[in-house]
Amino acid sequence: MTVKPTARVREASQQTDPQRSPAPARSPSGTVVSLRDAAVRVSGRTLWSGVELDVGAGEFVAVLGPNGVGKSTLVKVLLGVLPTAAGEVRVLGEQPGQAGQRVGYLPQRRSFDASLRMRGTDIVRLGWDGDRWGVPLPGRFGARRKAAARRIAEVIELVGAASYAHRPIGQCSGGEQQRLLIAQALVRRPELLLLDEPLDSLDLPNQAAVAALVGRICREEGVTVIMVAHDVNPILSRLDRVVYLAEGGAVSGAPEEVITSETLSRLYGTPIEVLRTSDGRLVVVGQPEAPAIHSDRHAAPGAGEGKP
Ligand SMILES: Nc1ncnc2c1ncn2[C@@H]1O[C@H](COP(=O)(O)OP(=O)(O)OP(=O)(O)O)[C@@H](O)[C@H]1O
Ligand SMILES: [Mg+2]
Repeated sequence: MTVKPTARVREASQQTDPQRSPAPARSPSGTVVSLRDAAVRVSGRTLWSGVELDVGAGEFVAVLGPNGVGKSTLVKVLLGVLPTAAGEVRVLGEQPGQAGQRVGYLPQRRSFDASLRMRGTDIVRLGWDGDRWGVPLPGRFGARRKAAARRIAEVIELVGAASYAHRPIGQCSGGEQQRLLIAQALVRRPELLLLDEPLDSLDLPNQAAVAALVGRICREEGVTVIMVAHDVNPILSRLDRVVYLAEGGAVSGAPEEVITSETLSRLYGTPIEVLRTSDGRLVVVGQPEAPAIHSDRHAAPGAGEGKP
């Protein structure tokens, strides 16, 4: 992928849906994530550059764009796993990677073998004490152990997984596994939740249910959510902001501003048509194909099916 010298980048819009209650501020400035003129290079290749973004406390933001454009890479930059090549990135007022447990993360494409005996509760517990997994806490830490058990039960209840959390995770359905993994990411009460394609490979009712769950976590728990999504429709009504990545650049703002024929055609430098169906769904026609260099990563059967 080459960088277009004309990559267009727009400042994040501050517009939110007036129907929604204001989100609680978690940092003095109310800004949870900011990128200033940020660029990232992977294997000598610039994926995107000049990216500007402000995400306010309690906002629900989607990261969109074709396969291989650098959506997961953006999440890894926010986690501090990948450095930026230029610009400035702040997460909860810190350098990426410095905010520790204040950031929860759900990686892309998780799957569990059907024979895995670990229970749902064990998976959630890994989010609490994964670094000490298997080491029993001595007696004087009993209070801490009880607090952990309470929080694990609470978060399992929150995601609606109580009825199957004691089953082996490999025997849970994709939607059930997803809820348990969201519980794992939430168990340490993060202020920022980074979800990389949590709706991937779920059927439509499960997509809607998990989208509703994440929306509720955002609104009711005040957690800022950045979600990478392949299809914006299941979360469209809940979003404050979208970020569309393209070769070289990005555009961000309120969904109704960004997901338009004009804005996306300008961003991708090719005619793109955005159609709205009678039930309010958005269909993006003509989005560029994934670059050939990316295809190897999704060679597994079924991986990436139905992607733009
Ligand atoms: N560590 C790495 N070394 C080399 N190339 C990498 C590395 N990580 C990512 N890439 C490349 O960077 C590009 C962007 O990858 P990324 O996973 O961020 O894409 P994506 O937008 O999340 O795609 P998808 O929709 O398929 O998940 C891809 O071409 C990928 O092959
Ligand atoms: Mg990805």
